[in-house]
Amino acid sequence: MTPESFDFIAGLVKGRSGLLLTPDKRYMLESRLTPLLKREALADLDALAQRLRDPRSVALAEAVTEALTTNESSFFRDGKPFDHLKRALPRLVAARAPGQPIRVWSAACSTGQEAYSVAMIAAEMGRELEGRRVEILGTDIAQEVLARARDGVFTQFEVQRGLPVRQLVKFFSQEQGRWRVSPDLRAMTRFERCNLLGDLRPMGRFDVIFCRNVLIYFDPPTKSRVLAALAAQLVPDGVLYLGGAETVLGLTEKLVPVPGERGAYELPRAVAATG
Ligand SMILES: C[S@@+](CC[C@H](N)C(=O)[O-])C[C@H]1O[C@@H](n2cnc3c(N)ncnc32)[C@H](O)[C@@H]1O
Repeated sequence: MTPESFDFIAGLVKGRSGLLLTPDKRYMLESRLTPLLKREALADLDALAQRLRDPRSVALAEAVTEALTTNESSFFRDGKPFDHLKRALPRLVAARAPGQPIRVWSAACSTGQEAYSVAMIAAEMGRELEGRRVEILGTDIAQEVLARARDGVFTQFEVQRGLPVRQLVKFFSQEQGRWRVSPDLRAMTRFERCNLLGDLRPMGRFDVIFCRNVLIYFDPPTKSRVLAALAAQLVPDGVLYLGGAETVLGLTEKLVPVPGERGAYELPRAVAATG
């Protein structure tokens, strides 16, 4: 692949998704795009770049972008944010008008483990939620992972990563060597496509936002822009969770760390007070 082809594909992917492909990712580009080259009967990545230069290649550009996303996820990933959520939910419920649902957004949800982890927590809190409905929205830029999230069927390998056996038995049923999430958890969740670089305002406002392990793939200006957009979708007393290698520090002043809680962020006091 010529450097021009690499730059063109990297520029296209960054413009569409924010994903930053530095020249050391050349090998990743080659390995992840090989199936697509075969499917499109293209000789090599130069031919792909050539095809992508045609403004009509929108579907192909989308497929290339999707192929370059990293979709790694697991149940109750990193533990801490979920422990914090268990403590935060009763406070959020107490501060809401009766009947008002609690809205949780798993932005960049991949195959849905994060959304279903939240659903399990809410299902197990029972009385502490005072009968409050918890609505969980999972979104991602990649259609393939969203389809898997909606299906709610996980492999043995996937359930072995982070999901305690007690919850596996309680919330999943075995089906031809795989595990299907219970109808109750599915009823709490919904999965939709959403690009974090797009207009997030139509998503509405959320009490809790999880946006974990996606900002690491963006450059600092893109991280700042996405964090500011997420802050605007958070209710004044809401919580945002980021991944272990992510922070708001030096990127935005619209969010501040929750004191003593790694990975949890909130609106600065002055902003929260004015709503
Ligand atoms: C590594 S996974 C993280 C999954 C989950 N949040 C977790 O922490 O386990 C990153 C996800 O971000 C998605 N993604 C990448 N760029 C995106 C964008 N611009 N908008 C929305 N999702 C994006 C990818 O498709 C991928 O599924």
